[in-house]
Amino acid sequence: MKRIIGNWKANKNRAEAEEWCTTFSQIVNEDSELRELLTSQAVQAIVCPPFPFLEVLNTRLKDLPNVAVGAQNVAAYRSGAYTGEIPALNLQGLVKYSIIGHSERRSYFHETDQDVLQKVSLCKEFGIEPIVCVRSEKDIIPEGVGLVAFEPVSAIGTGQNMPAAEVVTLKQKFTIPSDAQFFYGGSVNETTALDYTKESAIDGLLVGGASLNPAAFAQILRIAGSTVR
Ligand code: PGA
Repeated sequence: MKRIIGNWKANKNRAEAEEWCTTFSQIVNEDSELRELLTSQAVQAIVCPPFPFLEVLNTRLKDLPNVAVGAQNVAAYRSGAYTGEIPALNLQGLVKYSIIGHSERRSYFHETDQDVLQKVSLCKEFGIEPIVCVRSEKDIIPEGVGLVAFEPVSAIGTGQNMPAAEVVTLKQKFTIPSDAQFFYGGSVNETTALDYTKESAIDGLLVGGASLNPAAFAQILRIAGSTVR
């Protein structure tokens, strides 16, 4: 199964989030081929909106097959007097997955490998599967992590996606548990998705900008699912 993770980052207002759900649901419900790719688990969608829309997406997407909702971050604290933080405790039962250690968190919010270790451990404690983002083989991949996303900084939001062959070669430098899945992220869109998803060494994609458009996101799901057949 290939997984396509949509990272909305800090985009969309509530009406736009609702609209995304309406359009995406319509596409999946009207496209029997895409529905079948999801139902047969050839592909999974994990949509990660901003926190305030998690409930909206959970409600609006719950009847779609193999479409899950994820968070973009969790706090490095269990609970307590941390005003404005959102710990895994708050997200328990609301999300199955959370992105952890995205390079934007590392650069703008000064997250360290130590924070990533702590967040991964809290995710596990509260039944959330972490998707750990690494910028290179130098970033630590905590033990027991099953989902790893390689996102070279030069490729994120720049339109300069790293060629798939290079990603496959670089993968060998990473110390990844043998049963872990390895994703690529960085300027992937409907045009470039196939280059990655046709590679057996790449188990899926983390898609930022293109995931904001439900039609583009659905198209990437179709492309990824068709490579599993
Ligand atoms: P992008 O973002 O697809 O817009 O480059 C990817 C990411 O940062 O997750």
